[in-house]
Amino acid sequence: MAGLIGKPTKRIDGLAKVTGAAKYAAEFPVKNVAHGYLVTSTIAKGKIAAINAQAAEKAPGVLRVFTHLNAPKLAFTDPKDKDNIGMDGKPFRPLQSSEIVFNMQPVALVVAETFEQARYAAGLVRVDYNEVESSTDTAKTQAKAFPAMSEQRAPKPRGDAFAAFADAPVKVAAVYEIPVEHHNPMEMHGAIAVWENGELTIFDKTQWVNNVRGHLASIFGIETSKVKVVSPYVGGAFGSSLRPNYYPMLTALAARELKRPVKLNYTRRQMFTGHGYRPHTLQTVKLAAEQNGKLTAIIHEAVANTSSYENYTEDPVSVARTLYACPNVATDYKLVKTDLPTPLYMRAPGAVSGMFALECALDELAYALKIDPLELRLINYAEKDPDNGKPFSSKNLRECYRQAAAKFGWSKRNPVPRSTRDGKYLVGWGMATGTWSAGQAPAAAKVILNADGTATVQTAASDMGPGTYTTIALIAADTLGLPIEKVNFELGKSEFPNAPVHGGSITTASVGSAVQTTCQSLLMKLVEMEKKNANSPFKNAAETDLIFENGRVALKSNPNQKVAFTEILKRNNLAKLEETKQAAPDKERQKYSISSHGAQFVEVRVDEDFGTVKVSRVVEMTASGRIMNPTTAHSQEMGGVVWGVGMALMEETLIDHRYGRMMNPNLAGYHVPVNADIHEVDTDFVHEEDKIVNPLGVKGLGELGMVGIPAAIANAVFHATGKRIRNLPITPEKLI
Ligand code: MOS
Repeated sequence: MAGLIGKPTKRIDGLAKVTGAAKYAAEFPVKNVAHGYLVTSTIAKGKIAAINAQAAEKAPGVLRVFTHLNAPKLAFTDPKDKDNIGMDGKPFRPLQSSEIVFNMQPVALVVAETFEQARYAAGLVRVDYNEVESSTDTAKTQAKAFPAMSEQRAPKPRGDAFAAFADAPVKVAAVYEIPVEHHNPMEMHGAIAVWENGELTIFDKTQWVNNVRGHLASIFGIETSKVKVVSPYVGGAFGSSLRPNYYPMLTALAARELKRPVKLNYTRRQMFTGHGYRPHTLQTVKLAAEQNGKLTAIIHEAVANTSSYENYTEDPVSVARTLYACPNVATDYKLVKTDLPTPLYMRAPGAVSGMFALECALDELAYALKIDPLELRLINYAEKDPDNGKPFSSKNLRECYRQAAAKFGWSKRNPVPRSTRDGKYLVGWGMATGTWSAGQAPAAAKVILNADGTATVQTAASDMGPGTYTTIALIAADTLGLPIEKVNFELGKSEFPNAPVHGGSITTASVGSAVQTTCQSLLMKLVEMEKKNANSPFKNAAETDLIFENGRVALKSNPNQKVAFTEILKRNNLAKLEETKQAAPDKERQKYSISSHGAQFVEVRVDEDFGTVKVSRVVEMTASGRIMNPTTAHSQEMGGVVWGVGMALMEETLIDHRYGRMMNPNLAGYHVPVNADIHEVDTDFVHEEDKIVNPLGVKGLGELGMVGIPAAIANAVFHATGKRIRNLPITPEKLI
């Protein structure tokens, strides 16, 4: 019904989730399922010399122990053997050779009647290695860094940043460091594979059912039509399920060989090498300005780690090119090979890392200039994209700054570090900017109007938690003129019309646009049918003369002239009416620079005796186009703030570089914020109308809300303590 878009709406899948009715990948009841358990390597580099699986094979309930010695040769019909997320190199494929390329690499898969039997037997598998020295320390191997992008792809310098930096009256230069961080969704990765007559059905946790389908079809050398991927619920992923990880292939392989369904779940420990991670990133930022605060040079150079077998790039430096008006900008991005798994996109990849460095450097510059940090950002506000001269399709960042600063009380800030105390706490205020691309990709949807007046909407999208079920149902109901209860939205099946990856915060713009256009087209089909009726009051009505409300079409000029959708179907002897359509980004977009923005203001209280930091207050204002569902959108921004607190203060995967082994692969050693760590958080949206981005006027916001938070916290910590911590996380020992 009109007016549903923008109306706060509770999650329609909420009840199913909290009552356990929602089935996650490894929960589907499949008869006669056998259980797998992984054995992982204890070295980071070398070769498997020998595997002794005899004891494991004889253990109770064991059906098979798969290793590289007995795993079947697979087809790999896609010669590039890619997972379509654009990395150079060759993806890791388990049990295909004796080579070890990272510590905790899977070296055997034990399959047994029960999980406990498989786990017990896994402990009996003996592996001998020929170990060679591994290299996992990004900081120590920086000298070997190579360009992350080809010369053609790497952006050219703007102006002469090095000369401008040399000549500038005021300048700052520093190195900022982000450690390896891991996605830790509540649901651990898992799959159940079932083969029937040469066709594969796999229940998988994924952000992209169609990519898993293509991946498995290539590996097993079968048509994509013979692979069915089912993934209706995803218990968080944050990027960790953007590409097929190694377990779907292993699960399907074991099921095919044993001629029996097989289930495989990572343990929490295996989650740390079972998918990628945010790479270890070292960034040098050099900023120069005139005395009046006008930026004259930005130099942003990053070095990040990748694996030995693939080049992962997330581009932490490009935000420096577009965020502020500055005539001279030079960026550089390099990689170093390490004997670790390949990194992977993790919430706000690139942007949150790059903005941590850039926004902290800007804070340092503000102190060097004695100009307020917010004022400095306004002095350098980019009215058009400084990198390509294009206008922004919309950019209401100024309003974000204004409203957030007012709510926060920023004007009352005493800029002097250590100037504010509250009892034993040092109080600090810091701020930063956030930005994220507002992407859209081609997507398709099918809409079925049923004889009972309900509608079914289908697309191969995912919902890893942001509320896609609700938001897309809302768009369908609004467009069709139905109450949301009458829309049944189904996603997460590869047989549904094509949808892009559920990542990059593009789903609402992409899938929402597809659903909107399909609904509109379906309604026109319905009206055309009605017009054939000789007595129809709509005979001469144009599309714009009609309204669709409460399951009826009516004349705008005379709403009493109306007919129910069900009536039209009935008259035409139809049990249902279907439409399938695709929506793609409009060409008009190319004339504009398109992104979403936000401003964050943070208060911290630092205990001087213990060096502990409490984020006592956050105000975040976001400009992200038209908000489809304020309830779930607000929840996304809250989540971004919470994660930003984790990134700033807690998250760090520790690696013992002697062994190339992660030391804290569990939630006891890898810290994330809990409720007690989160205090007052106020996030809201400013009005932003955008007629270019897509007909819905919607921009993605799932990642945006996190982007400036770590920088704002670090800046607040400096204001509180006078200590500039440039390497995350800001833990007590760094502050004391
Ligand atoms: Mo997001 S890191 O694109 O899932």
